[in-house]
Amino acid sequence: MSIADRGTEAMMTNYPPRPLTIVRGDGCWLWDDAGTRYLDLVAGIAVVTLGHGHPAPIAALAAQSAVLDHVSNLYWTEPAIALAERLNSLSGLEQAFFCNSGAEANEAAIKLARRHGTETGGAAKHELVCLEGAFHGRTLGALQATWAKPKKIPFEPLPAGFRHVPRNDIAALRAAVGPQTAGVLIEPIQGEGGVHVIDEAFLIEARSLCDQHDALLLFDEVQTGIGRCGAWFAFQRTTVRPDAVVLAKGLASGMPIGALLSKRLATGFRPGDHGTTFGGSPPIAAAALATIEVVERDDLIGNAARVGEHLSVALAGIDGVAVVRGAGLLLAVELVDGDAAGAATALRERGVIVNAVSDTAIRLCPPLVITMEQAELAIEAFRAVLAARG
Ligand SMILES: Cc1ncc(COP(=O)(O)O)c(C=O)c1O
Repeated sequence: MSIADRGTEAMMTNYPPRPLTIVRGDGCWLWDDAGTRYLDLVAGIAVVTLGHGHPAPIAALAAQSAVLDHVSNLYWTEPAIALAERLNSLSGLEQAFFCNSGAEANEAAIKLARRHGTETGGAAKHELVCLEGAFHGRTLGALQATWAKPKKIPFEPLPAGFRHVPRNDIAALRAAVGPQTAGVLIEPIQGEGGVHVIDEAFLIEARSLCDQHDALLLFDEVQTGIGRCGAWFAFQRTTVRPDAVVLAKGLASGMPIGALLSKRLATGFRPGDHGTTFGGSPPIAAAALATIEVVERDDLIGNAARVGEHLSVALAGIDGVAVVRGAGLLLAVELVDGDAAGAATALRERGVIVNAVSDTAIRLCPPLVITMEQAELAIEAFRAVLAARG
């Protein structure tokens, strides 16, 4: 039986059929079980920051595991504290909570906003204002904060107290935020929603409304954080500063981690409010610290900005591309004749892995170590695929 057949038999059917069985990775390259090599422009959905198999997080994880593996949050351990200090200093925030995924980190952010809301305004101050097109995860709270209705309907009832406004619609935002608002939750660049950059003017208004109504401004940087968009955090490309930031995906370059960073809040979590057994485990924290070191040492933020700009300009010039959206190495290539799924298949057949983020757009979120030469291979493949479609 093939690996694919065994997977079909043994695993639940919650993911669509998978076109490849991947057996090995190295940097920006992946190999399937037939030995075919692919240029990986997906990076495990914006996760493998340093490329596949980078020695730094692996060595840090192994070394820390040999010294101390896991004791839970009943005790202090140094790696999580060092990671919190590093992230606080990079983000300008002051306190960290660690968990294991983006959805979990958003659950923590929602609870933090509600804890703050009920402390400052009583039970009525519990609403979260989110954006149309948002994606925040699949757990019930994060799913309710997410926009796409079809993902939600089979699992209703979901938690009450969430409103959605169209992205970049300042009037709608003003109408939605009020004394009942505990938090406004925004991806500064919407990832799963199709790579849409939120206007700075909209973020400035969100900041001002949160200040006016004593609500928390929460930025979901699960997909955009840790250098991907040409800054440590996408919000740093703007003048707006949030009260809290949600991280996951690329933070430990392939190891599972989530984080919530916030200002020091008198109205924040109290002991017993929130927790998770694995959060901040020493080996994962060590892998995240090693990831951050390499991003800094090798100027991967500069690389993301430079290669991202080159990809963006070159792809926008290809016949058949309507527009390229995004920043750094989080890009969407909107196709004139749509059929992003068909184009993704054709690119894969030419040895380039991308994913269709909507019916009409292809997302690129490669490892931040991608070189200009590898970007050229990708551009050439797009040119060939779109030319073949006429
Ligand atoms: C912006 C954003 N938030 C949250 C999530 C959920 O993260 P996870 O899949 O780790 O739960 C994602 C995943 O794509 C995301 O892009």
